[in-house]
Amino acid sequence: MKKAKITVVGAGFVGATTAQRLAEKSLGDVVLHDIVPDMPKGKALDMMESACLEGFDATVRGTNDPADYQDSDLVVITSGIARKPGMSRDDLLKTNAGIVGGVAENVKKYAPNAIVIVVSNPLDVMTCLVGAKTGFPAHRVMGMAGVLDSARFRCFLAMELGVSHQDVQAMVLGGHGDDMVPLTRYSTVSGICVEDLIPKARLEEIVKRTRNGGAEIVALLKTGSAYYAPSASVVQMVQSIVRDEKRILPCAAWCTGQYGIQDMFVGVPCKLGRSGVEQILELKLTDAERKLLQTSADHVRASMKILGL
Ligand code: LAC
Repeated sequence: MKKAKITVVGAGFVGATTAQRLAEKSLGDVVLHDIVPDMPKGKALDMMESACLEGFDATVRGTNDPADYQDSDLVVITSGIARKPGMSRDDLLKTNAGIVGGVAENVKKYAPNAIVIVVSNPLDVMTCLVGAKTGFPAHRVMGMAGVLDSARFRCFLAMELGVSHQDVQAMVLGGHGDDMVPLTRYSTVSGICVEDLIPKARLEEIVKRTRNGGAEIVALLKTGSAYYAPSASVVQMVQSIVRDEKRILPCAAWCTGQYGIQDMFVGVPCKLGRSGVEQILELKLTDAERKLLQTSADHVRASMKILGL
């Protein structure tokens, strides 16, 4: 079977760690692109020198030339600037739109058949931008955020209960912003709803910490934003696609009326397989949950308007 070709655009902390994780899991041959001269080549060579130690057969090639996206099965876009302490993801809107818009044009030109996963912030509107600039069918464009937000929620729930992280499942919908929607009713420990395990007030604090998860890391790092959990989240999505696993993962996907959301990318549960987003699943929501999701989607829509999308 043909090995997947996976291009990671942006060789900063998120991009480089994604490339490393993809190689170490041998999910495909990786091209790592950045505009900074030689830097991606140095990182890629460093990773290749670890292949015999880590025991992977994938190749990692660094490049400054977008023509090397050619024939990619998957492109992961991590380009753009990261938040500094005190900044919201929305503060990055205009700067990152310029950068990500340029990347999308290169993807359209050099990798017209690729599935694209957007990671740059503000996530949902950057995914809308990539969808618009590439014109790719909706199932081939998605954003990574729900997996990360759910992973943070799962982490905090596992720490609270002192149970294995593996037994905690959680669902976070909506935009990757301060008004994301962690769904406690759909979050469980080995099938037991967390609402039956954690008092309401404490659960609300955990939900708040989840919403603030990215900013908590930014405040601690002081010079950048998170990359270990974000890269692991991208890799879970890539794996589900290249191995056709059909995992059900929350992703920013193009909604056509699901949850009452029309013609925009926002975080919803998706089935990810070889063709990309193969299905959007509709959970039954209470009126209150639906309202929160609508507020989050309205926020994304406002950013789209600023970009004329
Ligand atoms: C975060 C950034 C990647 O949530 O959005 O950490």
